[in-house]
Amino acid sequence: MIRNGVLVVVCLVTMWPYYMMMVECDVVTCSGIVPMSIRNDVISIADFGGVGDGRTLNTKAFREAIYRIEHLRRRGGTLLYIPPGDYVTGSFSLTSHMTLYLAKGAVIRATQDTLNWPLIAPLPSYGRGRELPGERYMSLIHGDGLRDVIITGENGTIDGQGDVWWNMWRQRSLKFTRPNLIELINSHNIIISNVIFKNSPFWNIHPVYCSNVVVRYVTILAPADSPNTDGVDPDSSSHVCIEDSYIATGDDLVAVKSGWDEYGIKFGRKSSDITIRRITGSSPFAGIAIGSETSGGVENVLAEHINLFNMGIGVHIKTNIGRGGFIKNITLSNIYMENTRKGIKIAGDVGDHPDDKFDPSALPVVKDVTIRDVWGLNVQQPGSIQGLKNSPFTGICLSNINLHGVAGPGRPPWKCSDVSGGALQVKPSPCSELATTYGTSSCSIPF
Ligand SMILES: *[C@@H]1O[C@H](CO)[C@@H](O)[C@H](O)[C@H]1NC(C)=O
Ligand SMILES: *[C@@H]1O[C@H](CO)[C@@H](O)[C@H](O)[C@H]1NC(C)=O
Repeated sequence: MIRNGVLVVVCLVTMWPYYMMMVECDVVTCSGIVPMSIRNDVISIADFGGVGDGRTLNTKAFREAIYRIEHLRRRGGTLLYIPPGDYVTGSFSLTSHMTLYLAKGAVIRATQDTLNWPLIAPLPSYGRGRELPGERYMSLIHGDGLRDVIITGENGTIDGQGDVWWNMWRQRSLKFTRPNLIELINSHNIIISNVIFKNSPFWNIHPVYCSNVVVRYVTILAPADSPNTDGVDPDSSSHVCIEDSYIATGDDLVAVKSGWDEYGIKFGRKSSDITIRRITGSSPFAGIAIGSETSGGVENVLAEHINLFNMGIGVHIKTNIGRGGFIKNITLSNIYMENTRKGIKIAGDVGDHPDDKFDPSALPVVKDVTIRDVWGLNVQQPGSIQGLKNSPFTGICLSNINLHGVAGPGRPPWKCSDVSGGALQVKPSPCSELATTYGTSSCSIPF
């Protein structure tokens, strides 16, 4: 039920045989930032010649159905229903005021015809494709300048069939940057929920220059060795809510970004007010990442109740010389990690550059990062926090952190440089840079 705009879940607690009682549990959620639109106008992909036989190419059917939604402009928008079946398609663009609804058993499957895949212009905050110069392949499901878009259903699947792309990456035969599974540019009031994303060629869900975006109840899967298959990457976007999802891919599960180097600095669009909550997953890279593209700035990020298994790095905040921008007011709490190479890493000189025109004096500012209530089991290295000599990290606060190691001696200690902040109840004991500066005004941990 909705009470005062807050979702209240009624829990039944049975204490049989004595009595049954009803308790209200308040489940905190940010999903209320986008209203759910109910569409009365419903069309099916089948009405446009869509065939779900796993072979027929349905690109034309998708484009015609969406053209119909765009041009008839029915009051309250239109729902495009994808019935059970396996619909192969090339990439297509969504339109405003539409719901893409995948029934149980519906699969939207990307064609593996990479030769005819459309190209689009680079993003201005990147100045080129993310992995190769020049244009880049359009995402399978694309949107630009949209509002009021919902992608949902009964846990149908959007399958990028990424292995042909991963193989081209491995063989260095890619001509342009690989396509995202879903990219929405300059769009507002977006809900993506109850969908399974599989085998994206590159990043899975990429909202860029967007606001009011909810990603909820999704499952994102790609093999651990698939290159660059990030889960959700809010990029120069604000008011993004990512909740209640399972993500297991070959790269960062969630990575907050805002463009890179001279292009990102010039474009100057930050990512702000990002909530990441109740995410479970695993990856050889990071669970929660910020960066490394942060030239427009990243602020007001809250990540909580995160459960990570078989990870590379639990929390990774990363930027680079030449990036400029800032990373500030970041809070991460209630993080559980098991079988992890490194617990926490904050680094000022990772990642590559778009070209050699970056300004080496554009130093990023990293400040006010609080990480608390972290429990790790089988964590090989507790972590490292390495700032920049001419732009030291400040206000880095760690508290109530227990990173249990692997049995046996020889476990490396925390490694820190060019950082100030504080640490309280951190095991293994943190580096002296943090321990000795606790209590200074730069770090106030609320208790
Ligand atoms: C779809 O998946 C979500 C998240 O895993 C789950 O909460 C929900 O119950 C599922 N819905 C259906 C209709 O299967
Ligand atoms: C810091 O970020 C949190 C969200 O995590 C937000 O609620 C708070 O207002 C921000 N603080 C400032 C000073 O902007």
